Formats: sequence, structure tokens, C-alpha cells
Amino acid sequence: MFMVSATAPKETIQAAADALTGMDPSPAEAVDIKEESRFLWRIDVYTFDSEAAHGCAGIMELVDSSLSPTVQELEDKDWVAVSLEGLPAVKAGPFIVAGAHELAKGHPGRIPLWIEAGPAFGTGHHGTTAGCLLALENRARQAKLGKVFDVGTGSGVLAIGAIKRGADFAIASDIDEESVRVARINGDNNNVNNKIKWLVATGAHSAQIQRMAPFDTIFANILAPPLIAMSGDLTRILKPGGVVILSGLLNFQEPSVRAAFAGRGLTLVDRIRRDGWSTLTYQKPKRPASPKVGRQKKELKRLIEALKSGKVSALSEFDGFEGA
Ligand SMILES: C[S@@+](CC[C@H](N)C(=O)[O-])C[C@H]1O[C@@H](n2cnc3c(N)ncnc32)[C@H](O)[C@@H]1O
Repeated sequence: MFMVSATAPKETIQAAADALTGMDPSPAEAVDIKEESRFLWRIDVYTFDSEAAHGCAGIMELVDSSLSPTVQELEDKDWVAVSLEGLPAVKAGPFIVAGAHELAKGHPGRIPLWIEAGPAFGTGHHGTTAGCLLALENRARQAKLGKVFDVGTGSGVLAIGAIKRGADFAIASDIDEESVRVARINGDNNNVNNKIKWLVATGAHSAQIQRMAPFDTIFANILAPPLIAMSGDLTRILKPGGVVILSGLLNFQEPSVRAAFAGRGLTLVDRIRRDGWSTLTYQKPKRPASPKVGRQKKELKRLIEALKSGKVSALSEFDGFEGA
């Protein structure tokens, strides 16, 4: 494992972190930024090999030539977990996401999501996870969460949160086997595995997902390009009236993601912005507009015009008002 580090004013560090996390694929395995002193912030980027580490250093220098990143090889440990250790609990809406040690202190009135620091994404500290939890709460206040699909489940935090907030059942998948292994453990720790089916899959491509469809609620916290690529599949497996909660897109990537989902006939019903990341909730129309309704509207217009012009004085004189 390699670590690439640099210190600079907050804006420069944030820009470097945005550049590395916004790339798909990114050479960075994990990116951690924190305040070092009153004027300086620090970025630590973790990579598996030296080539990726030097790639990250190059990207950081491109973002701002005043950055002088250092690259060092680390002894063999789970550095992602180490970088997350000691992180404070995250509160998002009614949820508190934290490890066992923090939850043991007791947080009355909160829904606890027990997620230990680990290699799977989703400890709640990222703006996208927190945004999804807030969007989940907004939806739960308006409608039943029903049957849930969580694509790119990472630590499983969203599927677990949905079940604890009243969803009937969830199917949660990830392209990464290790994430699914960790998510299953997290499900067990949170006592929700009787209501969640964990699965290794790419996007919605799995017979089990297709068999369970349609879903009332879908979470997709992935990067912008795969979200756009999945817009058709996700719309197809969404129930009429159901919602898909999208995250993983930087604020400036919103227009292309919005165009993709609006183009599928979905309506934007909620938007949350956190730490430069957007979370969008899209709803599928309750009933697809029927061609018959369209025809009736046209005929009604003709009837009104005919009445106004005096060509007809009663409905019986009107030729062909379908359904009258
Ligand atoms: C940003 S993390 C989100 C984790 C968690 N859902 C959360 O909200 O914190 C994205 C996850 O999506 C997974 N992923 C990326 N592309 C995917 C794809 N095409 N299909 C399924 N999972 C994918 C990654 O392995 C990663 O675990």
C-alpha cells in the first residue's frame, strides 16, 4: 500500500480530492482530507501500487502546481480501516452511523446503524452516503419504502437503514465481492439479515434482481457515468409511483445525470447537496399516460371550440366525443 500526502489551503486540498474522487476509474483507493491547522488542510490518498501513487501525485500537481505531494510505501496493514479509525459518529436525519464503541454510549431517539470502519465504502462520513440517508428519510415521511433495491451497496449502510426505517425487504448488490462480504456482516450486526438478500452483481444484471422487480425504492450511490448508463435499467425495474435515489455525482455533473433520468420520463422530487456532492430523488409517474386519455383531451378541446363558435349547441350534436 502507498500513501500520497500534501498540505495546502482548504480550497486546494478540496479541489485535489474532488479531482481524484471524480475520476472513473480513479487511481486512488481512498481519499481522506482533514484540517491540519488554522490555515492548512491535509490530503492522504491511498493506492495499492507505486504506479497509481505517482499517478495520483501527478493529478494533484495538475490541479494546483503549488502542491508538492510526497509518496511513501506503508507497511502491510488495512490502511483504509486505519484511516477511518477514531472517526466521529455521523448523524444524518434520524440515523446515527458509527462503530460499536461509539453506539455503546447510547444515542436516544436515533436509529443506530452499526458500521465498523473497514474496506467497504459507506461509513456515513462521505457526503453521498449522508445525502442518501437524508433522502431516504424524506421519502419515508411521504410513502412506504416497500421493496428496496440498493445497487452499489458498499458497506450495506443504505439497505440496512431502509430496513430499520420500515422497508419490507431489500436486495442489495455490489460489483465488489469484498464489499458484499462486509455488508453481510454489517447486516448481521444490525439484525436485519432476515430482510436483506446480499448479492454480487453488476448494475441490475442478475436474474434475482429481475425476479424481485419492480421496486418501490431504489438507491444507486455510484459515480455519474455508470448512473447515466444504468438510467434505462433502473427506470424499468422501478414501480410506478416509486423513487430512485441517486448519488455519487459532483454538483457540476448534475445536468448530465438529470438529462438522463428526466429523459426516461421520471420527475425530480428532491435534491440534497452536501460537501460538493448531489443526491437526487426521481419518481416514476404513477400511471403511464394512456393514448386514449390523450385522444379524449384533443376531442374535448374540439368540442369547446365548436361550442364557442356556435357550430354545436348540445353534446348530442358533436361528432365522436370518445367516451361520452
Ligand atoms: C460510493 S460507494 C456507495 C456505498 C454505499 N451504498 C453508500 O451509500 O455509502 C459505490 C459502490 O458501488 C459499487 N459499484 C461500482 N460500480 C458498480 C456497478 N456497476 N454495479 C454494482 N456496484 C457497483 C462499488 O464497488 C462501491 O462499493
